[in-house]
Amino acid sequence: MAVHLYPRPRDYTRGTFKFTSTPYGNKPRREDLIATVRRGVTGTSMPRFNRISDKEVSAVVDYVMVLAQRGELEFQLAMEADASEELDPEYVPEFVEDVVNRWDSAKSSLTQPMTPQPELTAERAKLGRIAFLSKGCNKCHGDDGRGHTKDNIGKDSWGFTTRAADLTSGMLHGGQDPVDIYRRIMNGINGTPMPGFKNALQKEPETIWDLVAYVLEVSNRRRFGEKIPAGLMKPYDTAANAAVDQTDGE
Ligand code: HEC
Repeated sequence: MAVHLYPRPRDYTRGTFKFTSTPYGNKPRREDLIATVRRGVTGTSMPRFNRISDKEVSAVVDYVMVLAQRGELEFQLAMEADASEELDPEYVPEFVEDVVNRWDSAKSSLTQPMTPQPELTAERAKLGRIAFLSKGCNKCHGDDGRGHTKDNIGKDSWGFTTRAADLTSGMLHGGQDPVDIYRRIMNGINGTPMPGFKNALQKEPETIWDLVAYVLEVSNRRRFGEKIPAGLMKPYDTAANAAVDQTDGE
């Protein structure tokens, strides 16, 4: 069914996972994959699996990890064979070790917020909006978080066109907890154009919490009855996009 779904289900074999608690570019921790299986990906066809036992979740996650690691190894061997025209079997164990090491080091690479979580007040959300506009979030996400901007288009590392989703949809793919949103902003999202802001906001770490407060406020607008023109931009649906872009005046 993959071709009919948007977003498409993940191809594990590239070893890239979006919703992680590790720094940008790192492998996910086992706990991250378990969290995704348990909570599902809201707003996509990935359901939540909260009725199956811990043992079964653990087993499927093991299998996903095997598929990812095997895929990465195959990809690297293919690149090596391509570059040197033949593959010397002597080097294969080195490649295996590389893959294993990357997954091993993710285990101890949990990122924590730079400052403890404050109360996410309306005041903070206001500061967050200012940061959202001044730090360039609006370039992709639009001033109102709906993502209706011309620059909001890119390629993901799986080769598909992608866009920043409508933050006002109330369906955050990477989890609704403040710390989940914090990690998306601090670490960026692997394989997508969403950059990490850890370095940019190192000197003002509280700003990340302001942004979290703003993202939460924006994502709850519909739930609280505010009427926001609907219309998620689907990259495959270019004619409809053009129409939305024009009426939007962005
Ligand atoms: C270069 C474009 C770009 C910029 C700049 C950008 N984003 Fe994003 N953002 C994206 C894309 C693309 C995604 C969707 C990634 C995906 O899951 O495919 C995204 C996703 C997110 C998500 C996760 C939503 C979810 O479903 O869980 C949050 C939160 C977010 N962005 C907040 C921000 C904030 C805050 C800033 C500014 C500090 C920012 N973004 C700057 C492109 C951008």
